[in-house]
Amino acid sequence: MSFAHVDASADPAALAAYLDRHACGPMAGVKARLLAMLEVRPGERVLDVGCGTGHDLELLARAGAVPVGVDASAEMAVRSRARCAAVVQADASRLPFPAGSFDGCRIERVLLHVADPAGVAAEVHRVLRSGGRLVVFEPVWASLSIDSAEPAVSRAVVRAVAEGISQPLIGHQAASLLAGAGFTEVTRVDEPGEFATWAELRRTIDLDKAVGRALSRAKLSAEAAARWRAEMHSRSADGSFHATLTRTFLTARA
Ligand SMILES: C[S@@+](CC[C@H](N)C(=O)[O-])C[C@H]1O[C@@H](n2cnc3c(N)ncnc32)[C@H](O)[C@@H]1O
Repeated sequence: MSFAHVDASADPAALAAYLDRHACGPMAGVKARLLAMLEVRPGERVLDVGCGTGHDLELLARAGAVPVGVDASAEMAVRSRARCAAVVQADASRLPFPAGSFDGCRIERVLLHVADPAGVAAEVHRVLRSGGRLVVFEPVWASLSIDSAEPAVSRAVVRAVAEGISQPLIGHQAASLLAGAGFTEVTRVDEPGEFATWAELRRTIDLDKAVGRALSRAKLSAEAAARWRAEMHSRSADGSFHATLTRTFLTARA
């Protein structure tokens, strides 16, 4: 699963389907919470950076805002335009908008995929008017913890997960990054996300790819991986599976 380069990935449609599934399922609460945190007033222009398939553009419009989406991917831009006409295909570190042209901005699960999160923060600061509000949600994939009788194997898998993500620590780094870009009144709340089964965790992150990466780098033996996988399935069946992930919510003012 690579949201860093959607158009170059083997199956962009599968990535879009992932976003659609999550928007109506596990991420619906996060999206509602970010919308509330943004405190949108009618008629305000709000930018959704990395808008994906555009679900949040619809939510923003329903809240009375004038949403504009930007996404690096042509595939995502086309799909999100089905929900909102005002979507531009562009890299978030080079936003094609004049300075001070937005009242608000949201960024959800995007900074973890970009090469230059500080550059994105600087651009978002530039396009927001003075006092404009920013809300951000990012997971900290390096914080993933998977309970196991073989903690060393879990650690190898978690390391491989983090290695597959451009910014696996971004939730931890984002507050200072925003302050560095000139944002004020930066607030940050870290919360644990919990996964009750292996299948639930796999729906969010490509664990098979991570295990494969650990195997190919000889960080894990095939026997240990098979044993660990069997343990994960048996824990899911008897209710003892437990995995947590820190998720960070931020607010700031330009
Ligand atoms: C995990 S998806 C999140 C989509 C949406 N924010 C949501 O929560 O449903 C990440 C999105 O960021 C986009 N993206 C990744 N790197 C980007 C960049 N440098 N500039 C703009 N968009 C980017 C991807 O194309 C993808 O649509």
